[in-house]
Amino acid sequence: MKRYLSIDPWNIVEGGFDPRHHRLSESIFSIGNGKMGMRGNFEEQYSGPSLQGNYLAGIYYPDKTRVGWWKNGYPEYFAKVLNAVHWVGLEVMVDGQPIDLYKNDISRYKAVLDMKKGLLQREFVVKLGEGKDLKICTERFYSMADDEIGAMKYEITPLNFDAKVELISLLDFDVVNNDANYDERFWTEHDSSFDAYIDAVKAVTHKTRFEVWCHGHTSLQTGGQPVTSQDVAATSTCIRRQYSLGLTRGQSVCLTKVVSIVSSFYYARDLLGSTGRKVLEEAVHLGYETLLDRHVQAWAQKWEEHDIRIEGDASAQQAIRYNIFMLNQTYTGKDARLNIGPKGFTGEKYGGSTYWDTEAYCLPFYLSTTGATVAKNLLLYRYHHLPKAIENAEKLGFTRGAALYPMVTMNGEECHNEWEITFEEIHRNGAIAFAIYYYTRYTGDETYLISHGLEVLIGIARFWAQRFSFSKKKGQFVLLGVTGPNEYENNVNNNWYTNYIARWCLSYTVQMLEKYREHEHFEALKARSGFDFQETNYWKEIIDRVYLPYDEKKGIFLQQEGFLDKELIPVSELPESELPLVQHWSWDRILRSCFIKQADVLQGLYFFEEDFDKETIERNFDFYEPMTVHESSLSPCVHSILACRLQRIDKAYQLFLRTSRLDLDNINHDTEDGCHITSMAGTWMSVVIGFGGMKIKDNALSLSPVLPHQWRGLSFRIQFRNHLLEINITPDRCSIHLQSDKPLDILLYGKKATLQPGVNSFSFSTTKP
Ligand code: BGC
Repeated sequence: MKRYLSIDPWNIVEGGFDPRHHRLSESIFSIGNGKMGMRGNFEEQYSGPSLQGNYLAGIYYPDKTRVGWWKNGYPEYFAKVLNAVHWVGLEVMVDGQPIDLYKNDISRYKAVLDMKKGLLQREFVVKLGEGKDLKICTERFYSMADDEIGAMKYEITPLNFDAKVELISLLDFDVVNNDANYDERFWTEHDSSFDAYIDAVKAVTHKTRFEVWCHGHTSLQTGGQPVTSQDVAATSTCIRRQYSLGLTRGQSVCLTKVVSIVSSFYYARDLLGSTGRKVLEEAVHLGYETLLDRHVQAWAQKWEEHDIRIEGDASAQQAIRYNIFMLNQTYTGKDARLNIGPKGFTGEKYGGSTYWDTEAYCLPFYLSTTGATVAKNLLLYRYHHLPKAIENAEKLGFTRGAALYPMVTMNGEECHNEWEITFEEIHRNGAIAFAIYYYTRYTGDETYLISHGLEVLIGIARFWAQRFSFSKKKGQFVLLGVTGPNEYENNVNNNWYTNYIARWCLSYTVQMLEKYREHEHFEALKARSGFDFQETNYWKEIIDRVYLPYDEKKGIFLQQEGFLDKELIPVSELPESELPLVQHWSWDRILRSCFIKQADVLQGLYFFEEDFDKETIERNFDFYEPMTVHESSLSPCVHSILACRLQRIDKAYQLFLRTSRLDLDNINHDTEDGCHITSMAGTWMSVVIGFGGMKIKDNALSLSPVLPHQWRGLSFRIQFRNHLLEINITPDRCSIHLQSDKPLDILLYGKKATLQPGVNSFSFSTTKP
């Protein structure tokens, strides 16, 4: 598809309206503030194809599972992110003609998502016929500063005629999810009320009984004078506040709407109505401009911490900012009950909020940019779900406190219902343990590990110990019937990645238990978990004898047993027209082929890089990457990082563009369903961990920057153990601004360097390290 969004360092710009891009643009122009978010749906009516989406973090519906053939162990429901109250809606009539951008002629259309300010704006001229041109300008935001507030402005100007305008401002809770399994309505018990000043709609979710209230205040002004509403019509699900007025040519009218959205996720039910009203009144008292100002200030603070500057490559610059912007809109880390959904607030697909994506991809981003408290909330989320993970494993027949974390979840319960993934894609447990290790190693703070992490590790280790079986034939422990990260293979035996990470989990758990056995909290841990050191005897037996498939001749790890029986063909030999495979080939053909959806063996080499020499990484990369179709958004970033490690900077750069512009250029042809939020954290990783070469080595921060030749400079900031570092890389220099009152020892290209507070400058060729 031809790129239709223009390149700009701080803005996403759509110039000209084409209904064929509408659903895609709705995803791209999504806004949010960590607590709530919405797709870029138009304010005015739009009768063409569109996916309306307004989502609230933590509010979900357990939609009864629908499968062709029920398997014991399947969860009863799939938790769905809920489409909620649509508050930006308006009906606009001019001289009796309804405005509908699908039907009207439009000119000078421009939509701009200003990432610096977190503001979505549109302007266009509607050609009403008979030479009548109507200009419309809109803007909206979800406040980053006042996170229960959303606000919008909608301005109409008849450019060359006198107009009779009718405007109806909507608070509409009559909404459905497109992905409902049984066309069920997820919201019930609607109610509404209004007075001269404020409108309110509320609804309760069926089954989960989350209650949500939206209070709205709409005002209209023309020439500095308020226009009062003529009529308010209300049903239990929707309030319609109507205004009629005449405008002379060139005269504008501006509608301002401010809403508060509060829910029983945060407040006692009996206080919801009064709280929502109070929150709104305070916001209205501040006024739209002050609210916007506070919101922009909050974004300025975020950018101060998160911005990455790339010089000499405008499309990469725009892309990385877009990725960082979307991640911040999705998760702010204030609440350990929330998590990062693969689609965030940009669509319904993927339902439940949490996948292994969080631990494997998102944690490093939040840890380095936002800090340990936020990252700890991500870990606590899983800690709080440990009892459910144990129940989940029990449902599958595991015992004695073995924990299997869900593939997909909202509240700790498994939601996924394809046996080859729900029961078999168990490597997710490994990523959850790895995140505890990553956090501890990065922060140097072992308190989380001791207070919470060990308990999670014990549950996970118990699971692996029961899941491994002993093969007499091999004289080794094996994992049968698994699905690795490459979901284009199912039900395989001895997926190298799964076996490797399972062994690592056992070994890390044993080491940490032994390290802290004398710790004052250890007895309490034993009491909580029923742990006994006896258990580790068997774990150690497994650790010593895990089967890891390897091909001597090629010197590569085998993705799974039998992988080499496949016909091995590089993706470059496939006709372009057959890609993406998932949209062109039968599932059967995909499963039998050698084509790999996402990093699998290479995911392991990325996680455990220090266990392997460069030649091993190189051999595996050269074997697997050419067969990888990267049809999971999570794929290119890991490959880009490994390519950096192998000094293949051009390859790393190509893969970086693929991950960073995945949604902006709709590379996987599926962004209309929503953006790939979790893979956006992978984009950040490919810059900081890939090109920046950031890792922890010998308990120190290690950097080995390399610069693609397309870039004149790269700078990013990271928080590291109470220090803030700003790293600026140019082709011949790396300077690090240490914002701290103490020096910091780091490794730069593997050599020790002591950074002093202030700017430290080093001369290097970063393009040919
Ligand atoms: C990937 C999984 C991922 C999920 C959600 C799938 O396409 O294969 O690894 O967890 O998407 O992002």
